Amino acid sequence: MSQTRPIAVIVLAAGQGTRMKSTLPKVLHPIGGRSLLHHSITAAAGATPEHLVVVVRHERDQLVSHLDSLPINSTQTLLIADQDEIPGTGRATECALTQLPDDLTGTVVVTYGDVPLLTADTINSLVEVHESSHNAATVLSAEVDDPNGYGRIVRDASGALLRIVEQKDASDDQRSIREINSGIYAFDAAALKAGLASLTTDNAQGEKYLTDVIGFSRDAGQSVAATATADLWQVEGANDRVQLANLGKELNRRVCEKWMRAGVSIIDPDTTWIDMDVSLSEDVTILPGVQLLGATDIGSGAVVGPDSTLKDTEVGAGAQVVRTHSELAVVGAGAKVGPFSYLRPGTNLGEDGKIGTFVETKNADIGRGAKVPHLSYVGDAEIGEGSNIGAASVFVNYDGVNKHRTVVGKHARMGSDNMYVAPVTVGDGAYSGASTTVRKDVPAGALAMTVAPQRNLEGWVVSNRPGTSAAQAAEAASEGEPASE
Ligand code: UD1
Ligand code: CA
Repeated sequence: MSQTRPIAVIVLAAGQGTRMKSTLPKVLHPIGGRSLLHHSITAAAGATPEHLVVVVRHERDQLVSHLDSLPINSTQTLLIADQDEIPGTGRATECALTQLPDDLTGTVVVTYGDVPLLTADTINSLVEVHESSHNAATVLSAEVDDPNGYGRIVRDASGALLRIVEQKDASDDQRSIREINSGIYAFDAAALKAGLASLTTDNAQGEKYLTDVIGFSRDAGQSVAATATADLWQVEGANDRVQLANLGKELNRRVCEKWMRAGVSIIDPDTTWIDMDVSLSEDVTILPGVQLLGATDIGSGAVVGPDSTLKDTEVGAGAQVVRTHSELAVVGAGAKVGPFSYLRPGTNLGEDGKIGTFVETKNADIGRGAKVPHLSYVGDAEIGEGSNIGAASVFVNYDGVNKHRTVVGKHARMGSDNMYVAPVTVGDGAYSGASTTVRKDVPAGALAMTVAPQRNLEGWVVSNRPGTSAAQAAEAASEGEPASE
């Protein structure tokens, strides 16, 4: 079967989206880690049209700079059309045509910037039906339980499409029709132009309705049709935040399903959130309560969760990441992270390394097999292969004005409660005692200590805290013991 491709896809995104009640333009609200507009553009580009046009007006500069930032993987250029002050989907489409060649022929698809679940396959099937039936216009319709607010598909007694009537212009009879206009269409370019030229604003909303092109073509004796979609989610628009959340949940359900079919174990898809740009290998296991965001990439056999958020994080094969928050970090193959770890940008944990419980890391290269197991902060540091950092250590990187770096060599055994006052370097194979404040470089193989002698003031508690439980315990402990000289 030859690939049917539209000559142009027009994405309408000029409307204000007032029901979102937001300073952020509606089509820039995200689900699955992408804006609604990004989802729409991805589907439009995926239909491989020769021309791709987005119509903007409300917050146009913000939309245009967002469009510029999108990594659209397609050879077509994205054209921007500005809608003028004349309102309506018909006018928006007219404005789009000004960006296209005058002698345009073929199939023009019109879709919206706020239908995030629509796929390129659905656009292409619509184009196929449209072209094989030699229609002037083909509209994607849907049978819904509550048609309120939508344009209705009006058919004649034989079931043939007559026209579309908007809710506000509809009679009571027409309002009871449950087949609605999705707002996604395929038009023959010439028929679209003729239809648009006929539009007026003589209707309940004072807008140029794109829907009127259908009735115009039909009245001109051309063939028009409505083809119903079975997948209602694909034509659902996000008009308010309730619909946005519902669409986000459904998108996520579809994404989780795709990964499970690709060999990923997701124990609880209801509490697992996976962004569109995440990539997962076979035999990854995702435990409940996990969010995989941005361009996170998980290698085969790795286990993530429960209760972890990884954004733009790379996890190597066979690694384990438990109850962790991570952003712009790399976890090597076979490494262990968590529970309760915080990996900040620039963390790079080597193969078989460990970042353990209540450990925060940032700009830190932790070598192969190196370990920071407990209660530590590692910032602006390099820790060599096979080294171990004792519990409760801090890489003291900030002097109040500037940040400095600490370097620990390979196979060092550093004591607990060490402070590394940067800039400072610890050589390969060095040791340190507990509570060392490392202010001076430690040569390879040396044992570093900061020794402050311990003093015990005998009897201090009984004398200074009489009557406390500590004093009573101390007295009980000394009973029967010979009095010290
Ligand atoms: C439109 C259809 C209606 C259909 C419904 C499906 C018309 C006249 N009506 O309704 O039959 O059931 O979509 O959701 O077409 N837009 C512009 N410029 C404008 C107006 C709208 O670009 O001047 C864009 C909006 O940004 C949005 C889309 O067109 O992406 C639809 O606009 P909206 O107001 O939500 O749809 P309706 O006109 O109510
Ligand atoms: Ca409207």
